[in-house]
Amino acid sequence: MNHFLDIHTTDAAELRAIIDSAAAMKQARQGRHKGEPDDQQPLKGRMVALIFEKPSTRTRVSFDVGVRQMGGQTMVLSGSEMQLGHGETIADTARVLSRYVDLIMLRTFDESVIQEMAEYASVPVINGLTNRTHPCQIMADVLTFEEHRGPIAGKKVVWAGDGNNVCASFLQAAGQFGFDFTFTGPQTLDPEDAWVRFARDKGSEVRIMRDPAAAVEGADLVVTDTWVSMHDSQSTKERRHNQLRPYQVNEALMAVARPDALFMHCLPAHREDEVTSAVMDGPHSVIWDEAENRLHAQKAIMRWCLGV
Ligand code: CP
Ligand code: NVA
Repeated sequence: MNHFLDIHTTDAAELRAIIDSAAAMKQARQGRHKGEPDDQQPLKGRMVALIFEKPSTRTRVSFDVGVRQMGGQTMVLSGSEMQLGHGETIADTARVLSRYVDLIMLRTFDESVIQEMAEYASVPVINGLTNRTHPCQIMADVLTFEEHRGPIAGKKVVWAGDGNNVCASFLQAAGQFGFDFTFTGPQTLDPEDAWVRFARDKGSEVRIMRDPAAAVEGADLVVTDTWVSMHDSQSTKERRHNQLRPYQVNEALMAVARPDALFMHCLPAHREDEVTSAVMDGPHSVIWDEAENRLHAQKAIMRWCLGV
């Protein structure tokens, strides 16, 4: 069964095939309105459950639109409205859902929930973000980089800020797609060692640097994300803001990167905190393409999951 749970657990050649398929499907839709179906309807007759235990704008809408463009149908469910939030086990939920739907996308808190869903479901399960990783986002980010700058292999990606779930999937992608990765942020918010080791074992050069300007030097891509994630306690907000302020991505920091460097942010962004509006709306930024590419990347992921 092709579950799409994480970048490091998906074969590198399969990841490459998914990116190529996404690019081809995007190309084939040029000039079409969003509601127009694709020429091919590989999800015709398929039902997809999109389950959210956390808020979402991009993941929710891009999966829903993507399924419909490919001829399938969706139901968008919130975890709290399901028995999932009221004591029914994940395993039992997985068994029941598998009798109704052909594919499950789940955004949740602890990654054990998605792992258990995948273990007991008899249909593919896609990780739509956990506290620990966000693989669909990074597939869209790789697609976006390559659209603008060609192969990402051998490039230098710099992550500034919190070594969070999105950073984790980026590090895994460094190993799988063969690019170098520098993290710059305070030591207490370093990415997990496991992901650093994974990328290094695959041959990527991974650096952890405390000085943001030195880290960004020569970067092909600068990435950041919110300083406080959905699973973080709001009580940490003030301390994190103080710790992370030196790692704000602003014009001065972007000036140290390569002149043709790109800037990415998975969004939602907190303007003037982790990134300034001047960078978000400036010449390096590809954030809107990045958001659009969630749609194309996830369509390719769903096709891969279903083998259609
Ligand atoms: N980037 C991302 O996953 O956005 P949403 O939280 O809006 O889905
Ligand atoms: N790190 C963020 C990503 C949101 C898409 C969070 O988990 O809240």
